[in-house]
Parts: sequence; structure tokens; C-alpha cells
Amino acid sequence: MYVCLCHGVTDHHIREAVSQGVRSMRELRRELGLCGSCGRCGPHAREVLTEATADISAVAVHIPMPARDPECSIA
Ligand code: FES
Repeated sequence: MYVCLCHGVTDHHIREAVSQGVRSMRELRRELGLCGSCGRCGPHAREVLTEATADISAVAVHIPMPARDPECSIA
């Protein structure tokens, strides 16, 4: 879905930017150029950014820890 019509930015573009490390509206503006014209996209862009950041955090929480190797323990 288009979030910023002035710059042709979709929610997919925002999610992709978040997956590559973007975490703030300032970074999002710099990377994708949204909010640079009429500014109407700001609230929706922030919403998508917040959701995408939460999704990334949820995935990070579920990364399994490697199994312990008893021979590598420090006694
Ligand atoms: S809709 Fe994004 S700057 Fe106009």
C-alpha cells in the first residue's frame, strides 16, 4: 500500500528499510525521501515504522541460542 504518494513510497519500502537498520523517522526520511513535500504521509509512515520495528524486535527475541558445548566451558 502506498504511504507517501508524493514520493511513491509503500509500506513494503518502509519494512525493507527497517530490515536494513532504519529505526527512526529521521532515518526513514533520509533513506526514502518521504515527508519531504506535503507531509501528509507522516502519521501513517510513523505507524508502519513502529509496527515494522516491533516485528523486527519480536524476531530477534525468538532467535534460538546455540547449544552449550561442555568441552568449551571455563571451570
Ligand atoms: S504524501 Fe509524503 S510528502 Fe506528500
